[in-house]
Amino acid sequence: MSTEQLPMVVPAPDLPARVRIHEVGARDGLQNEKIAVPTEVKAEFIRRLADAGLTTVEATSFVHPKWVPQLADAEELFPRVRDLSGVALPVLVPNRRGLERALALGADRIAVFASATESFAKANLNRTVDESLSVFEPVVREAKDAGAHVRGYVSMCFGDPWEGAVPLHQVARVCTALRDMGCDELSLGDTIGVATPGHVQELLNLLNEEGVPTDEIGVHFHDTYGQALANTYAALEHGVTTVDASAGGLGGCPYAKSATGNLATEDLVWMLHGLGIETGVDLARLTATSVWMAAHLDRPSPSRTVRALSHKEQ
Ligand code: HMG
Ligand code: MG
Repeated sequence: MSTEQLPMVVPAPDLPARVRIHEVGARDGLQNEKIAVPTEVKAEFIRRLADAGLTTVEATSFVHPKWVPQLADAEELFPRVRDLSGVALPVLVPNRRGLERALALGADRIAVFASATESFAKANLNRTVDESLSVFEPVVREAKDAGAHVRGYVSMCFGDPWEGAVPLHQVARVCTALRDMGCDELSLGDTIGVATPGHVQELLNLLNEEGVPTDEIGVHFHDTYGQALANTYAALEHGVTTVDASAGGLGGCPYAKSATGNLATEDLVWMLHGLGIETGVDLARLTATSVWMAAHLDRPSPSRTVRALSHKEQ
């Protein structure tokens, strides 16, 4: 990679020295793809992401295959990647059935996914918010008893396509419920990408006031309105060190039509490295992976950084 393909490093004061990127390309990135991606391509995608230096690579979901057909191959995929060394491979589970399937294959990082709004809880989980929390309670307990690390996603933290604005206290209630169950970390989902930086800071402040420490909080921004990097910067200023992103900016949620791709990992890495923040990621390898994946999906990556760094290939 030539020097013009690396950002100039100009650190900003008071930002974290290191950020852990929680890579969601193989799960959030692919779950909405209409054409089935072959299992071996998914496995190779995960291997390449790990090879690019990503240490947390969300692998798949053990959800109902009819609800997310693209991830119906979780049983075939997970064994192909589970022995990758030095990489945590979280998987999503919506209920006990999902947990059983995941544990049977040796998964040791589990994510449950709740919603701050009733409309999305119904659309995504076929349950009310409280019913879904009741489903998660034994799932989290059993996962912890099995020695797994548990992440609790909360979707629609900043806005909902059916309900509009989402009161912050509603988000905080679901966050604290998941934490009280024993979740090790939370991920604040801006499922439809409507958040802006002040909103992010306000939610983080409220969560701290409610007793949730910043080091247990990750942020999960979709980039629908082009705000994901600005929102990430606001979270970094608050001290957040876990940021979700999707290689190449792949993504969307099948049960929230207005959701587009996640924050692109390459765009995130460009900014973090420019700020002198360590990620452990090799940007050239990661970009090559997204170009490779874009060829499989037969369309160019929406990531600005991938396009800039690979203009000759795409
Ligand atoms: P349901 O229809 O209410 O399920 O769906 P049920 O509990 O009534 O069970 C019906 C049948 O499904 C039963 O089979 C169950 O065994 C079976 P039967 O007895 O009739 O033969 N079943 C399962 N089979 C396999 N694996 C399972 C499973 N569970 C039940 N895990 C359910 C409820 C939760 C299952 C369904 O709504 C579902 O799978 N939803 C998943 C939706 C999803 O994956 N959405 C995308 C991920 S969330 C996201 O993208 C947001 C995020 O990125 C953050 C953000 O951006 O905000 C995380
Ligand atoms: Mg998402």
